Amino acid sequence: MDYQAHLSQRARGLLGSLGRQTSVPIAGLINLGSGTPDFLPPPAVFEAMQQALAAGKIQYTAWTGIPELRAAIAEKLRTENNIVYDPATEIVVTAGAQEALMATLMMLLDPGDEAITPSPHYDEYTRDASILGATLVPVATTPESQFTINVADLAAAITPRTRALIVVTPNNPTGTVLPERTLRDIAALAQERNLIVISDEIYEYYTFDGHRHISMASLPGMRERTITLNSFSKSFAMTGLRLGYIAAPAPLIDALLPFHHAMMICASVVAQYGGLAVLSQPRDWFQAQLAEYDRRRHLWMDTLKAIPLPYSEPQGAYYIFIDIRPTGLSSAAFVARAREEARLVFQPGTIGGGAGEGFIRGALTKGSPEFEEGLARFRTFVTGLLHERR
Ligand SMILES: Cc1ncc(COP(=O)(O)O)c(C=O)c1O
Repeated sequence: MDYQAHLSQRARGLLGSLGRQTSVPIAGLINLGSGTPDFLPPPAVFEAMQQALAAGKIQYTAWTGIPELRAAIAEKLRTENNIVYDPATEIVVTAGAQEALMATLMMLLDPGDEAITPSPHYDEYTRDASILGATLVPVATTPESQFTINVADLAAAITPRTRALIVVTPNNPTGTVLPERTLRDIAALAQERNLIVISDEIYEYYTFDGHRHISMASLPGMRERTITLNSFSKSFAMTGLRLGYIAAPAPLIDALLPFHHAMMICASVVAQYGGLAVLSQPRDWFQAQLAEYDRRRHLWMDTLKAIPLPYSEPQGAYYIFIDIRPTGLSSAAFVARAREEARLVFQPGTIGGGAGEGFIRGALTKGSPEFEEGLARFRTFVTGLLHERR
């Protein structure tokens, strides 16, 4: 049967864009680029979910999520992010930031519209825009400026079709935390050009060396034009529970609810009780995880310095963006050879757009002793590649 003939233009355009996922772990392969945290949330999360199940809480919740969770999210945003939202009308609980992002873009983008984002960026943005017949316009950032966006470049990318700016800090894949000065410049630009800002803050808890996460909506004049996306996936190591949220002014929440409803009706009720439990915990348990990620960050940097291979020092998130240009290989070729010859898995920098060519994404998410074994293999592998070039 000719299946292609049955596909929408949209589906044809996306064929192969995700690659094929191998669900079976391959013996001996070490994934040094994974985006999944390797720790567990506190036991209270598991207890709350078990209690919810035992009490038979398995029916739909309100579309926007259980009121207790929305209240807890509003309280978290008030105390940690310095933004006040009404839990009754300004928060929607979603199936992760992924759904939050798609619902938001469905609300904002018509076919032919554009959304601008600093690049390298999270790869899903491109696919989401293209599903909607819209375009993600990447604005390249460079290693020389630690992949921090030059706001004049953002301004130059604005056209009459631009509907939104997407800002991610801390960033996947570069590990850049945008400084307050840059965020204020972006805020000024958004206000001057009357643009909505989508602020993806899912790595907010992962910051190093005194870099501080600042929420876009907390800046003067920005609450009314910012859609804040966040998630329990990375902050609380709950990626598979699929739980996130959108916080925005009520008219925008009203406008995006039909899209959230079309995709999910509501987020998983059991996950919502887990999310409520984790938000009720004092946040100090997370410090031990962060210290471990910082330890791995230093091990990565020590390894790269010893080779030596340049890299962009991670300021936040849990990625390290490694400059593999001295090996003479493209990102794709490096990743393929690392897998074949060193049994190591990385993401090519190019998954986040062309500005990532010549880079790979490493991660801090692998624990001992595989992490150390992976780094040792990486060092031998890259040293060999550099020798080949001499
Ligand atoms: C920047 C960014 N946004 C959103 C997501 C989606 O996260 P989730 O749907 O698990 O909350 C990811 C996942 O890696 C990400 O890196």
